[in-house]
Amino acid sequence: MAQRETWTSRIGFIFAAVGSAVGLGNIWSFPFQTAANGGAAFLVVYLLAVFLIGFPTMMIEFVIGRRGEQNPVAAFEKIGYGNWSFTGGLGVFSSLVTLSFYSVVGGWVLSYIVGSATGAYFGDPGTYFGSVASGPTAIAAHAVFMAITIGIVASGVTDGIERATKVMIPAILVLLVGMAAWATTLSGASAGYEYYLSPDFGVIADNFASIVPPAMGQAFFTLSLGFSVMIAYSSYLGRDDSLPADGGAIVVVNTLVALLAGFVIFPIFFATGGAEGAGSGGAGTAFVALAGAFGSLPAGQIIGFVFFAVLLFAALSSSISLLEVPVSYVTESYGYSRGTTAVVMGLAIALLGVPATFGTSWLGFYNDLVFNIFLPIAVLLFAVFAGWVANREAVDELGRGSSVGESFTTAWLWWIRIVVPIAVIVTLYLGVESLYTGLTSGAYF
Ligand code: PHE
Repeated sequence: MAQRETWTSRIGFIFAAVGSAVGLGNIWSFPFQTAANGGAAFLVVYLLAVFLIGFPTMMIEFVIGRRGEQNPVAAFEKIGYGNWSFTGGLGVFSSLVTLSFYSVVGGWVLSYIVGSATGAYFGDPGTYFGSVASGPTAIAAHAVFMAITIGIVASGVTDGIERATKVMIPAILVLLVGMAAWATTLSGASAGYEYYLSPDFGVIADNFASIVPPAMGQAFFTLSLGFSVMIAYSSYLGRDDSLPADGGAIVVVNTLVALLAGFVIFPIFFATGGAEGAGSGGAGTAFVALAGAFGSLPAGQIIGFVFFAVLLFAALSSSISLLEVPVSYVTESYGYSRGTTAVVMGLAIALLGVPATFGTSWLGFYNDLVFNIFLPIAVLLFAVFAGWVANREAVDELGRGSSVGESFTTAWLWWIRIVVPIAVIVTLYLGVESLYTGLTSGAYF
């Protein structure tokens, strides 16, 4: 069997993992979830969820991945707990389903890049969204987005994923910083910052039950947790770096990108007077609101183009990680070549995504199914596995190559044994309830 690939450097791994984390979740969902859930109040809960629950959970996936040095299913066997492989498998399944609709939204982004260049959405943003979000244009753009994703994954871990993310991540950072600097010059900027950054703790207290589940879901999603992605990526480490240090860097950069996106979007909204409607609706409102805002700005066409280009890079650096999970599983477990597997799996996933091009209700349903059910269940299982089943190996692996010391690893163990599961169970409960309500009230179909 061919030798397993590894990242060429520590920084290569960090770029790839940041690439997976930084995605539509940061630049598209995060600002809009924040807008929909009371602005700064949501931000506070979200940041707590990222650092207190997300970071320790990322360590769980890293520990399993680096210890197992295999795809997310075989990793469990390799560590000696083969009957837990299904938990890795659940992540593989979630990755497939998520990529199927993530790519549809990626296709919208492509259409908005074109629309910025031609100015097509400036006159009537609502109609433009309608024309690209479903039907033949949506299918075609979804196909193009998948084709690019397949191309990168087929090229391999180092030549494809590592190389692509090393270009895309710096580009995202530089362009976002540039746009945030430009946004300070807008007339509504200070009102935007105010809404974004001054939390009203009364709002948090009053809306706790409605803020926590989206904040938790967003924290997991944005860090790519619960999808076995971080298991797959850390399995290519092949060396003893500090997992907490690498994970810390990844979490911080990912958070920075989300915050920066807010620094671009909130001033724009307050400058163009479109903040209210922005957070209220489904998947499409964000696109319509943004396009509308760009349309009323002086250099809107250029800003729009750059913004959607950043969004495309972010989406691609995530979609490749979602495809890598099933591809690594099939190539390693069944011995097919990476190229063939990437193409076949990619096509299957593209087909699975077709219903999401029929209208945004399917997309919302896929999204909530993964967010509210699969994702928390997988995280819960990972935590129980690492905390209660493979606890010695887990603690040992977390400390390997790191200077954190035993008090850190022990604290982590108890944290993932008790706190993470409780937080996830609460989220799961509220998530199931909301999905059920959505289904019975006809909110989806
Ligand atoms: N983290 C990505 C985002 O924020 C999405 C993603 C989720 C990617 C899970 C891979 C796995 O958009």
